[in-house]
Amino acid sequence: MASEVTIGRVDADEFADFRRVFTQTFGFSMSDEDLARVRPWQELDRAVAARVHGQIVGTSGAYSFDLSMPGADPARCCGVTVVSVRADQRRRGVLTRMMRQLFDDADERGEPFAALWASEAPIYGRFGFGPAAPAINLEIERAGARLRRPVDTGDVELVDRATAADRFPPIYEAARRRRPGMLGFADTWWERLLEDDPNHRDGAGEKRYALFADRGFAIYRLKQGSWEGGLPDGTVHVQELIANDAQATAGLWQFVIDTDLSATTRAGRRPPDDPLPLMLQDTGRAKARADWPLYVALVDVPAALTSRGYDTDDTLTLRVHDRFRGRNDGAWRLSVTEGKATCEAADGDGDIELDAEVLGALVLGGQRATRYAGAGLIEVHTPAAAARLDRLFATDVAPWTGVMF
Ligand SMILES: CC(C)(COP(=O)(O)OP(=O)(O)OC[C@H]1O[C@@H](n2cnc3c(N)ncnc32)[C@H](O)[C@@H]1OP(=O)(O)O)[C@@H](O)C(=O)NCCC(=O)NCCS
Repeated sequence: MASEVTIGRVDADEFADFRRVFTQTFGFSMSDEDLARVRPWQELDRAVAARVHGQIVGTSGAYSFDLSMPGADPARCCGVTVVSVRADQRRRGVLTRMMRQLFDDADERGEPFAALWASEAPIYGRFGFGPAAPAINLEIERAGARLRRPVDTGDVELVDRATAADRFPPIYEAARRRRPGMLGFADTWWERLLEDDPNHRDGAGEKRYALFADRGFAIYRLKQGSWEGGLPDGTVHVQELIANDAQATAGLWQFVIDTDLSATTRAGRRPPDDPLPLMLQDTGRAKARADWPLYVALVDVPAALTSRGYDTDDTLTLRVHDRFRGRNDGAWRLSVTEGKATCEAADGDGDIELDAEVLGALVLGGQRATRYAGAGLIEVHTPAAAARLDRLFATDVAPWTGVMF
């Protein structure tokens, strides 16, 4: 018979055990030094563990983020992280119980949204998470990757980590104000973004920090290739490239792509509307494929739907099916007047019927209701209701974040 599993908080002296269950489940190891390094980022008061006979067998936790909203101030968001269940305890409902605790905590903290990066897409839909902020992976061949409007890369300066820690955050903050889906976080996160952990280099060189005046920055590395045929064929790996105007965007891309001894630049988790392909004389030099999306769930439907702004006025009743969070399950009348929303409980099947995970996917405007209806994942009861929902949720700028947590 399976032993009883209990769900509870994590004490400071359990941190090493907690992290080790997570890293072992993920198949990597952590030295004491690594543990000390990650300790400042873990909000231990938000960690939730599963135990059997007092021993940790499941881990989960949350970061307290701000999530940029379309047309409104950022909303508070529970960034779900370090989710793991020890192999011998899988498929017994351990994750489900930890998720319940995380959602209840988020609710108590007044966080209308939760977000996460999913290791596997099928895990989180049942908890109301949908792929809200799609991303692309760009691969650019250096040969022939010329810009239509070349810029003077003399404005790009390589800086040390301390300078990056000082100059990058205000640039990021300016970008965050313009793009939904971006995350606001505690200052300690900058150490995490800028740190150069040798375990994560994968044979590449040290991180380089490039600054374009106070208008953009890039964090990247060069990895040597095989020099086949005597030719340099290294790869530039871009971790972040954030720029607040077209010239800074072009300058940073040109600088990074034109790295000596490289043949290719790879940039994962880029925004789906990344302008780079359009900036190239030959757009085909930048190959785009789908990358991991950020998954978003509504912890509280009315609080979440009234947290964002809207460009169109309309009234639609959404019948939300949420088997995980009973209080979200029901019909919700979303009414927008002069960009301001109200959301109240209603009756019946509404104009549109959809699962909580689909609402999670749509809420930031990064996915289209008409597409989900085409896939049979939304039931439309009023003519054109899906198209009206598209217009209601549409945003000027695609929602996106590149920050992994
Ligand atoms: C993913 C993981 C946390 C699931 O934990 P778990 O305790 O087995 O999950 P639960 O028992 O609560 O599962 C709840 C439901 O999700 C389903 N599910 C769980 N993991 C799944 C997966 N990887 N793919 C598809 N379905 C999955 C279960 O089958 C179950 O479905 P049911 O309610 O219809 O029976 C665990 O398998 C794990 O640690 N995996 C490796 C690490 C990882 O991927 N972590 C996620 C990080 S984002």
